[in-house]
Amino acid sequence: MNRRNLGKSGLTVSEIGLGCMGMSDFYGVRDDEESIVTIHAAIDQGCTFLDTADMYGYGDNEILVGQAIKGRRDKVTIATKFGIVRDRHDPARRGVNGRPSYVKSACDASLKRLGVEEIDLYYQHRVDTETPIEDTVGAMSELVEKGKVRAIGLSEVSPGTLERACSVHPIAAVQTEYSLWSREPEDADGILTACRKREVAFVAYSPLGRGFLTGQIKSPDDFEADDMRRNSPRFQGENFARNLQLVERIGEIAREKSCTPAQLALAWILAQGEDIIPIPGTKRRKYLAENLVAAEIALTDNDLSRLEEISPREAVSGDRYPENLRALINR
Ligand SMILES: NC(=O)c1ccc[n+]([C@@H]2O[C@H](COP(=O)([O-])OP(=O)(O)OC[C@H]3O[C@@H](n4cnc5c(N)ncnc54)[C@H](OP(=O)(O)O)[C@@H]3O)[C@@H](O)[C@H]2O)c1
Repeated sequence: MNRRNLGKSGLTVSEIGLGCMGMSDFYGVRDDEESIVTIHAAIDQGCTFLDTADMYGYGDNEILVGQAIKGRRDKVTIATKFGIVRDRHDPARRGVNGRPSYVKSACDASLKRLGVEEIDLYYQHRVDTETPIEDTVGAMSELVEKGKVRAIGLSEVSPGTLERACSVHPIAAVQTEYSLWSREPEDADGILTACRKREVAFVAYSPLGRGFLTGQIKSPDDFEADDMRRNSPRFQGENFARNLQLVERIGEIAREKSCTPAQLALAWILAQGEDIIPIPGTKRRKYLAENLVAAEIALTDNDLSRLEEISPREAVSGDRYPENLRALINR
């Protein structure tokens, strides 16, 4: 698998990473055994950029990733995140904490759960509007000095916040939702342009539209009762029906290209620039194998303009987050 730079950090990662979130949280039933062998299969196939966060499964996801990489630490690039604070007794509730003392304790806790001495890429998961970004990034840069973290990232930040953060410490990567149905980052004054100006890598999360762009989700009833996608406006009522038409059109092009819609969605992201790294999530070897083939699919200018025609920014129906989670996005 080809590799892409994590900004100017000197680190390189596989051009397709593995999102580990759904292995422990949000997307239905867990299967830790299959998840661990999926991580092993990814590493064996050169997909070695693993994405987790301290809030996924209240820490369980970091523990799972830690178990999976035992004996394989030198083969992987571990990215984790801090800053979203959850309450087990009220799973929908979210707090945000970017205070310097919290950054340090969160990092120590992640190192312990992952069972590693150093985190390769440490992201602030959401910006804390009560704490100046300079203070948070200042604390993160101390973690780099102490050898606990190799490179710093931010998730769902505005261009202005990124600019301020870069004045404190080089930012290696920004992680933001980006896919054929989430194209806000492309706006002329959007985060993709801001990343390019600063040579910051752009890590595209939920590149398969949380599974929707694979064409496998036919009804909101396909989800289990506690699946968080039930709360997303895009997966509800009229929006769901309209978005299904979009996926059907993507499916038509995939059939012509003799690939699956998932592969086409990932190949489209890879074609948007060498600085973009998608991290599709799965807990199954079968989907992993399918998704990694995307790296071999070359899209022609004609393919790209047809995808542009059927999936412009305004094609999607509904917000990507419910209001309480939308409020955490830094603008
Ligand atoms: N920074 C942030 O705020 C943020 C937010 C969300 C996610 N993330 C990160 O980004 C990663 C990826 O995003 P995501 O997991 O939300 O969404 P995604 O990658 O767009 O989609 C994941 C979903 O698609 C399904 N899937 C994957 N490959 C498939 C295939 N080939 N055919 C059919 N279904 C397939 C998975 O099913 P199974 O689960 O059944 O395998 C899962 O339900 C996460 O794991 C997480 O690490 C970050």
